[in-house]
Amino acid sequence: MQRLMGKVALVTGASSGIGAATAIALAADGARVAIAARRAERLGELADRIRHCGGEALPIEADVTDETQATAMVQHAIQEFGQLDMLLGIAGVGVAAPFQNTTTAEYRQMIDVNFLGLLYPIHAALPTMKRQGSGHIVIVSSGTGRYIHPSTVYSGTKHAASAMAESLRREIGREGVRVTSIEPGAVRTEFTSRMRDDVRLTVELRLGDMEQLEAEDIATAILYAVTQPPRVNVNILTIYPTQQA
Ligand SMILES: NC(=O)c1ccc[n+]([C@@H]2O[C@H](COP(=O)([O-])OP(=O)(O)OC[C@H]3O[C@@H](n4cnc5c(N)ncnc54)[C@H](OP(=O)(O)O)[C@@H]3O)[C@@H](O)[C@H]2O)c1
Repeated sequence: MQRLMGKVALVTGASSGIGAATAIALAADGARVAIAARRAERLGELADRIRHCGGEALPIEADVTDETQATAMVQHAIQEFGQLDMLLGIAGVGVAAPFQNTTTAEYRQMIDVNFLGLLYPIHAALPTMKRQGSGHIVIVSSGTGRYIHPSTVYSGTKHAASAMAESLRREIGREGVRVTSIEPGAVRTEFTSRMRDDVRLTVELRLGDMEQLEAEDIATAILYAVTQPPRVNVNILTIYPTQQA
């Protein structure tokens, strides 16, 4: 049985990793999915894959740090599908380094993507969800948004994301809009490979031969949260690799 039949989701950060796995999982469960990121070619490939399996996908090229583009992304999804039931804020970047080994340009990028890049789409989506009297905002924060790992600025942006999610949940639950914070430990995606070389090597050394989570493990957790009855708000899910301290 497809539990999300008739539902519409917009997934940011859908061009790889957790976002791509989540879009596939939502579509497999019946949702029509708008998939957004900057790499249009990747989105096209993902849309083909979802359609090939009988799903419906709308690729939207957008940079979530640009308010105009983030707003247009949400409006495009709503115009195309006529509603918006789930907004999944998954786009993120991380320079998992100590404060003194992080540049001010890197601070700005992490704050822009990991925090403003969440707020702009939520701002654009909320009026529709409130009008519908239902909606679900799922944000992918991080374990480092709750506990402290050696990644000072990244950790700060993710603490901001987790705190914002809980505060927003309290603010809009009465209007039928749910909010969930997903807080993963180490997941095997492109995330680490996109860091600058010295930081990437330190992170890889720290992770060692530990078995990391797969992107699909996080998609499964997200699917759990979004398929609960409307009266149930899954507030926070923290998911770590078994071997991660
Ligand atoms: N991997 C981990 O160990 C881990 C652990 C905890 C939390 N997380 C969080 O999980 C989320 C997904 O990460 P991932 O592991 O799946 O890494 P990933 O494969 O590198 O995915 C990151 C996604 O964010 C998108 N993105 C980055 N900057 C963007 C921008 N300015 N505008 C729009 N999209 C942008 C990327 O797409 P484009 O480059 O195509 O725009 C990509 O789709 C992130 O929020 C990350 O912080 C990851």
